[in-house]
Amino acid sequence: MLYSLFKNSCVCHIVSLSFLKHWLSNPASVGALAPSSRYLADAMAEDVRSFDAIVEVGAGTGAITEVLVRKHPQARLVLFELAEGLAAELARRYPRAEVIAGPFHENAKVLEGLPERTIFVSALPFRSLPASVIALTVDTLAQSLRVAPVRKLVQFTYQPRAPFTPPAGFLWHRCRTIWRNAPPASVWQLIQV
Ligand SMILES: C[S@@+](CC[C@H](N)C(=O)[O-])C[C@H]1O[C@@H](n2cnc3c(N)ncnc32)[C@H](O)[C@@H]1O
Repeated sequence: MLYSLFKNSCVCHIVSLSFLKHWLSNPASVGALAPSSRYLADAMAEDVRSFDAIVEVGAGTGAITEVLVRKHPQARLVLFELAEGLAAELARRYPRAEVIAGPFHENAKVLEGLPERTIFVSALPFRSLPASVIALTVDTLAQSLRVAPVRKLVQFTYQPRAPFTPPAGFLWHRCRTIWRNAPPASVWQLIQV
């Protein structure tokens, strides 16, 4: 049973050499044992349908990107990925997307001019990133979310508590737990109050 859970959740991605290389060089920035399963990717892409643009932060090997592109082909797509090698692969696989290599918070200019109906989808490992990076990343996210009340962030985490302390004017809503992922993960939404 464990084998089948593992097989269904991540075996296709776990063999990815690029993921392994990046994990070995910077495990704290990856913060995961394996790319997201298709069940988790489906859950992350669920609420995206009414948005004109999607910003995916920490796109990695594209486990979530793949579902976003399949389910929402018309939406403008901006992908942020820290690792240059993974970003180059994403640009090759998704020529219609705008792919930004490097830390999200250092590239906030790219977020200017996005439509009001923009949704943020993040797989950033907030529990293992350095505190200074978390603070700058949360600031950048909050600033861009405040542009329009309809904007929100979808984020998953492996831990039972919210991914990070909500900035002023926001609250977390826990949506669901995906057991068919290694490890199981919860999907959260950061919304404006
Ligand atoms: C948990 S992995 C998720 C990968 C993929 N989205 C998935 O769900 O399988 C986190 C990804 O975030 C990237 N990352 C970490 N810090 C980042 C930052 N400050 N800016 C952009 N990407 C970052 C890492 O390089 C890694 O690929």
